[in-house]
Amino acid sequence: MRPLVRWAGSKKKLLPKLSEYWLPTYERYIEAFAGSASLFFHLEPSCALLNDSNNELIEAYNVLKQDPHGLHEKLISIENSEETYYEWRSADTARMSQFDAAVRFFYLNRFCFNGIYRTNRSGQFNVPYGGQKSGAVPTLDEWMQASERLKSAELSSEDFESFVLRNARQGDFVYLDPPYAVSNRRIFRQYSAQTFGVEDVQRLSDVLYEIDQRGAKFVVSYAKSPETKEIALGWKVRQTVAQRNVAGFSEHRRQAVEVFITNI
Ligand SMILES: C[S@@+](CC[C@H](N)C(=O)[O-])C[C@H]1O[C@@H](n2cnc3c(N)ncnc32)[C@H](O)[C@@H]1O
Repeated sequence: MRPLVRWAGSKKKLLPKLSEYWLPTYERYIEAFAGSASLFFHLEPSCALLNDSNNELIEAYNVLKQDPHGLHEKLISIENSEETYYEWRSADTARMSQFDAAVRFFYLNRFCFNGIYRTNRSGQFNVPYGGQKSGAVPTLDEWMQASERLKSAELSSEDFESFVLRNARQGDFVYLDPPYAVSNRRIFRQYSAQTFGVEDVQRLSDVLYEIDQRGAKFVVSYAKSPETKEIALGWKVRQTVAQRNVAGFSEHRRQAVEVFITNI
């Protein structure tokens, strides 16, 4: 099935190639930088752990697990217009119930510009309205299916390093799809105030070593860059060409070389 949220950096286009690394015999599917979790929804593993440092996203998934019907009903009752969008965008989530905060998250995600998640320095979502062409709210059936799928997953919101070190064990499959932090190019990576930069590449390399030591398998997807050489040292590498569409402006959407780094 396809993910419910629109997400800059989603790996939709790489799913056929990424799926080749997965075997149903793995005990657990673990995703450290989940975003829209396109690979998880595609593979439909029976036991999963999903993590993302974006707390609003994970809280929204938690509500989706519990109340897909309520979310769908509320979302189709809200008008898709510029005025309503900015009203919801300016609302203070600290004063909202968990349910209303999830409605706000899914509404803004659906109708924002290009499915981008970006906040200002004080953590307030600041992506502009995307116009009428962002697509409709998914059907009730899609909300119900996504909710069922998420019931097989334990969700958490923390930094990838502590998440992986706390969880990975022999028999696991760990997928890591960090924002592309590359020093020589501007690639969209402003997911939130707390994100992944070139200074985190060494931590990622250390985490891969630890996963391997524990007898688990991993796949990292990354943009071909000087950083990939550092991450790939000692592991198997495969390259593929994909259309990258994370920049937000169509003139920045271009073919890019993606690299898979793995111990499989
Ligand atoms: C490229 S996106 C993942 C896309 C995902 N594979 C998909 O198909 O939608 C990277 C994700 O990493 C999350 N992230 C950024 N820094 C992180 C960190 N230090 N620890 C965990 N997650 C992080 C972002 O919030 C974003 O959702």
